[in-house]
Amino acid sequence: HDGATSDQLAKKLKVKLKDMIDKCLDINLLIKSGDYIGIQLANEIAALYDYRAENVAFDEDKVIGKEQLSDEDKSKLPLRNPIIAIMGHVDHGKTTLLDHIRNAKVVNEEAGGITQHIGAYSVKAGKSTLTFLDTPGHAAFASMRQRGADVTDLVVLVVAADDGVMPQTRESVKYCNNAGVPIIVAVNKMDKEGINPDRIKSELADIGITPEEWGGDTQFVPISALKGDGVDDLLESIALQTEMLELRASDKGNVEGVVIESKIEHGRGPVATILVQSGTLKKGDSLVVGETFGRARSLTDHLGKQLSKAGPSTPVQILGLDEAPSPGASVDVVKNEREAKKIVANRVAERKKLEETPKAKVSLEDFFAMA
Ligand code: GTP
Ligand code: MG
Repeated sequence: HDGATSDQLAKKLKVKLKDMIDKCLDINLLIKSGDYIGIQLANEIAALYDYRAENVAFDEDKVIGKEQLSDEDKSKLPLRNPIIAIMGHVDHGKTTLLDHIRNAKVVNEEAGGITQHIGAYSVKAGKSTLTFLDTPGHAAFASMRQRGADVTDLVVLVVAADDGVMPQTRESVKYCNNAGVPIIVAVNKMDKEGINPDRIKSELADIGITPEEWGGDTQFVPISALKGDGVDDLLESIALQTEMLELRASDKGNVEGVVIESKIEHGRGPVATILVQSGTLKKGDSLVVGETFGRARSLTDHLGKQLSKAGPSTPVQILGLDEAPSPGASVDVVKNEREAKKIVANRVAERKKLEETPKAKVSLEDFFAMA
């Protein structure tokens, strides 16, 4: 064979198709999903990622048992809960908003329960359950994005009404545009004196975020994260907008997930918060996580409750990994520890090869041999 589709190439390069399409656009190359890509073009695209041919003697996906679903199959999968991140400029009220949502909607459910900070939590909003990522800070998102592990379905952009559009507001918008993630604007600190919400609207419209009432497609919700005013409206808007996205994932088949945060805890060892994206993670499963491995000795939710399993869009804290993985690292369930070690060894070897020959010439023969 002498070619394959853009989707297959992205998969082989271990990048998101959307990401690859964006990168190609940067060099004025317009490709779409399903496009046929010849060997020469594939080499050019692969070169954008400084990519080297993979060792086909070891096909990780085969070892893990990943299945490829057609678009039709995907449309039949069960709906999953949306994953929401909160972004915005320093001091505009992200933490206050997250805390308000968590305290109002989570802790009350379990009186006396000790809320754990696990980097993500789920709340009920009407008939929807929303999963919030509790890791603001652009570094974490940037590193996830770099790894092609965009996990967010929607971003709530917090803009303080008394401060307006600031550098990190712009950066957040850029991030969302690049990642193709929709935005809801929370115009915060509405309780302050002398607020002019129209000024905020026009500042955001200037950077391409135009409110619905001005003919754009972005919802603006006025709130006071401090007092809680408007937060229910915000949750309702998030629920409605994400419902329309019809997000789906299989709760069966191979498990895929991503690390949200991790740390080493005295007496407990590496502790990682994982967001399951597909399949159902079970207690006792053997895992490969980035370049480390282990067994999910325990699964805990954000209320400190022990779980026996966790399906799509569920954040869980796990114990039992060999080392603390970095945020954005992928999570895969494998048959046993032996397989896990084999995959990790291969990943480490691949990375080292890549580091030793940073600008190695690309050869994708293996890829096309498989296509
Ligand atoms: P960083 O994590 O540093 O980026 O800030 P942040 O976006 O998390 O802001 P944070 O929630 O820490 O709020 C910053 C300050 O603004 C705190 O003093 C909050 O009490 C205050 N604040 C947040 N929301 C509101 C609000 O709705 N009204 C008023 N008046 N103050 C608020
Ligand atoms: Mg904060």
